[in-house]
Amino acid sequence: MPYALKSIKDVEVRGKTVILRVDINSTVKGGKIVKGPKILEHAETIRKLMERGAKVVILSHQGRKGRDDFIDLSSHRKSLSTIIEKEIPLFKWNEDYISAIKKLKEGEAILMENTRFLEFENENLPPEEHAKNPVIKEMAAVGDIFVLDALSVAHRSHATVVGFTPLLPSYAGPVLKNELSAMKKINEVKDSTVLILGGIKPVDSLSVAEKMLESEKVSRVLLGGCLGELAIIAKGSRLGYKEQYLKEKGIMDSLPKVKELLEKYPDKICFPSDLAVRRYGKRVEISLAELPVDEDIFDVGEITVENYKRFINKADIVIFNGSFGVTEKYQFAFGTRKILSFLCHCRAFTLLGGGDTVTALVRLGFKMKEFGHVSLAGKALLKFLAGNNLPGLIALKKAQEKK
Ligand code: 3PG
Repeated sequence: MPYALKSIKDVEVRGKTVILRVDINSTVKGGKIVKGPKILEHAETIRKLMERGAKVVILSHQGRKGRDDFIDLSSHRKSLSTIIEKEIPLFKWNEDYISAIKKLKEGEAILMENTRFLEFENENLPPEEHAKNPVIKEMAAVGDIFVLDALSVAHRSHATVVGFTPLLPSYAGPVLKNELSAMKKINEVKDSTVLILGGIKPVDSLSVAEKMLESEKVSRVLLGGCLGELAIIAKGSRLGYKEQYLKEKGIMDSLPKVKELLEKYPDKICFPSDLAVRRYGKRVEISLAELPVDEDIFDVGEITVENYKRFINKADIVIFNGSFGVTEKYQFAFGTRKILSFLCHCRAFTLLGGGDTVTALVRLGFKMKEFGHVSLAGKALLKFLAGNNLPGLIALKKAQEKK
């Protein structure tokens, strides 16, 4: 993994046109974006480049085609302008943005419309193929430097992530550099890493667990959320009512993989020893012996949290991805809240990642700076942890070696 990518920080940018790929992809509520850590952190990159006299062309996607969050970037433009305290115009893909880029003055920036409005953006092609695209070629022709600032998009070989790298000197931005130094730390420690996995997306999480166990990179894997529930089923219990939900969401399809891992690594994988259900509107904790139950399971119980603390105490590194319960409901955020507050005070370097995790920690009143590193990446982080190469980073590295 290329941790040592050259940074834009060390490059003279005054008077240079910088094509900057950020990720301000945000949660959308009522057609408007919720201002989260992504937009705040990337705004800082943009502000610094403007202060250093660069002419900045900002590129980002928002949402996915066919989903409610697939919207234009007008509310992002407003937010960025407010945060940076400078008006940033938005250009549509059918406007004469090339002339606008040529007219930019030092310290000015423009935001281009949602990159996924370009039909070709999402095609997974090698950088050299994307570089042949007329939009990429034309933009590169009026640009001087390309900067990739988001680990969170580096797992996609998309046009605006990799397409400029064969055409322009390319660098990593500060948000990406920060992510890479946390990743490097994690890679350095061999066997006293504890991996805590929760959430409702087991496929990616399980592949991380499998790869890290195989390469002996973790001492323990602590399961919560739906993964914890799958482990309980795999060990022979029936959950009752909750199983219907797990089936409907396709989560149950991961049961064979959970079984396989539990058989292969019986001493390394821990699963909940108690659970919390909603009974007559209240949180009630139950032991596994009380299963199956007719109520919905919404969290892990206190005994599980106490058990998990012992492993966290011994760790040098703790990676946390995915919450343990329904954090929108105060009484069922207990497990996640307890583990997170324990992570704030433990001696280990803590890495938290995934969009849901970041949302949960903000919702529960934690601050990002209370942890070792909070990654803005979701799937990209999981892919990295599972040992996959990320095309965005490889493309950047290749471009830097060519220089
Ligand atoms: C994310 O939210 O993880 C990134 O913005 C990437 O989004 P994507 O999974 O739609 O490519």
